[in-house]
Amino acid sequence: MLLLVLGTAAGGGIPQWNCACSGCSGARTHPGRRRRHASLAVRTDDGRWYIVNATPDIGDQIESRPELHPGPGPRRTPVAGLVLTDAELDHTLGIARLREADGLQVITTAPVRQALLDRLHLGDVLAPYTSLTWRQLPPRGAEPLDRDASGLRISGIPVSGKRPRYAADAPDDDAWVVALRLYDPASGATALYAPALAAWPDRFQEAAAEAHCVIVDGTFWDDEEPRRAGISERTATGMGHLPIEGPEGTAERLARLSARCLYTHLNNTNPLVDPAAHQHKRLARLGLEVAYDGMVIDL
Ligand code: MLT
Ligand code: MN
Ligand code: ZN
Repeated sequence: MLLLVLGTAAGGGIPQWNCACSGCSGARTHPGRRRRHASLAVRTDDGRWYIVNATPDIGDQIESRPELHPGPGPRRTPVAGLVLTDAELDHTLGIARLREADGLQVITTAPVRQALLDRLHLGDVLAPYTSLTWRQLPPRGAEPLDRDASGLRISGIPVSGKRPRYAADAPDDDAWVVALRLYDPASGATALYAPALAAWPDRFQEAAAEAHCVIVDGTFWDDEEPRRAGISERTATGMGHLPIEGPEGTAERLARLSARCLYTHLNNTNPLVDPAAHQHKRLARLGLEVAYDGMVIDL
């Protein structure tokens, strides 16, 4: 299984256009600290790619990787489709960016699909440009990622019923946010990708315990960070993101897994966006990593 990390930032990116916090200012001064919105590319058996979450940066993210470039032939792309873990704008605005496609395959859960069709009206808006083909991301089992291949299998483990703000009154559903589970029957490798993790349900623990690689929500270092930074009245958990440290924190739980564990979806207020921050030492002691843009994970 081959995974390309296309971005590792939470909504807004790093730097965020209207933000002068130390994380964003630091990234303006030191371009190496820049992070694009969190996204992953997954290779299929026949060498094509699915992009997990369509961010506002998706055009640049495709350009950043030769593996994702088009050709041979004028309009042949190795990008076979999109997988969406949720309907948040930072994970879906990129769908419209790909409107030049002959057709776009989108794999996601029912509530996410409904939000994109009924609230963002993506079906109507994009109909004159391209056609969207929807496929269900099953909560259990293991659906072939690519119908033409016998390779990777996927499922979406529900991890949150949090709706995006633009669909706040949409019906309850536990599959608003899922962790993507990828299983490669050829190598036996399993990866879990959860850029938004509001809770740690038993099924997530079971999947994490048997995974070889777990990439999770590293939006906030601790629960008070959003309030302390003055960006929200809510705590990290109140915003649908388990913090890294503290009683609800994910670090201790990840450290108990045998998997390689990495954080992604870092908010610009997270101290980890500064490579000199002491918090990196704490993670290193626990054997945990912070994913970076351009990282390649071969399982
Ligand atoms: C989130 O991860 O909580 C959302 O992307 C926040 C947002 O962009 O509104
Ligand atoms: Mn987000
Ligand atoms: Zn900032």
